[in-house]
Amino acid sequence: TFPKSVRLVEVGPRDGLQNEPEPIATATKLELIDRLAAAGVRYIEATSFVSPRWVPQMADHCEVMQNLSRRDGVTYAALAPNLRGLQAALTCGVEEIALFAAASETFSQKNINCSVAESLERFTPVLKRAQSAGVRVRGYVSCVLGCPYEGEIAPAKVAEVSKALHDMGCYEVSLGDTIGTGTPLKAKRMLEAVAREIPMDKLAAHFHDTYGQALANLYAVLEEGIAVVDSSVAGLGGCPYAKGASGNVASEDVVYMLNGLGIETGIDLEALAETGTWITRAIGRPNRSKVGVALNSR
Ligand code: HMG
Ligand code: MG
Repeated sequence: TFPKSVRLVEVGPRDGLQNEPEPIATATKLELIDRLAAAGVRYIEATSFVSPRWVPQMADHCEVMQNLSRRDGVTYAALAPNLRGLQAALTCGVEEIALFAAASETFSQKNINCSVAESLERFTPVLKRAQSAGVRVRGYVSCVLGCPYEGEIAPAKVAEVSKALHDMGCYEVSLGDTIGTGTPLKAKRMLEAVAREIPMDKLAAHFHDTYGQALANLYAVLEEGIAVVDSSVAGLGGCPYAKGASGNVASEDVVYMLNGLGIETGIDLEALAETGTWITRAIGRPNRSKVGVALNSR
């Protein structure tokens, strides 16, 4: 059965922009974040405290975090892969971070330069430190429905890494179809394997739309009880370590589908679609939300 309401995790400012080769002004990022909040988005992944040598677009993480016009009831989160990232994030007043692991060894090496086991070891002190600072920690597992280097990924491996993050203290684990190769039945099977280890209400779906399957996959996992969905306004994005990957499922498309299912999000679809049009014009990218394009061409 479907959930009554869904919490949308807007990852556009981070996952959506991290792969942009030309520097985007910090002011544009801040305006994007505030427009999203104004549209009713209650959780925004604002930036990423990673190495600027690896991901140059996120080099202004401190400026972004420190200059947010914070609105009541909105969580502004950031990725932090190690103690150094956490420390920087804490200095900038972050209230929530996300750690990111992978269900694929090769992807882990390419993305964070260490094995899956090493990443989990590295995360343990980050989690402890975050918790003692009162900062909540979310976890990601990448490549849950396929890996750009290894191909098929066993659902058991996804379950194992998800459980490790959960047991370590992540309050929620977001399941990333990083390269968007999943299909609905496969997504359902993967989720079933994970949900045998972790309660459904601790899980989120983070689906990319590379093969145009993201909405169908979401429908499948919503039916299983997933109630947290990661998405990116205008479908912005891609991943620097997954060649050819397109962005996350577009937030506008998700909200439109959820509206049709009678599932609440608290988001103003018109305002969200306007934000998608605005940001794609600002950075010179096509709007990859079909709903956004349709609403804004009326
Ligand atoms: P490393 O090279 O193994 O670590 O990087 P290191 O400790 O040797 O540091 C290397 C350099 O980075 C050094 O600088 C450090 O000072 C610096 P240098 O001496 O070369 O000038 N450094 C840092 N700088 C700023 N902030 C930090 C930091 N840590 C080290 N926190 C590391 C390891 C993880 C840092 C690196 O591999 C990295 O930054 N990777 C970036 C990974 C990334 O951001 N990927 C994209 C996000 S994940 C994703 O998109 C998937 C997701 O959306 C889910 C899905 O779709 O599936 C979440
Ligand atoms: Mg992603």
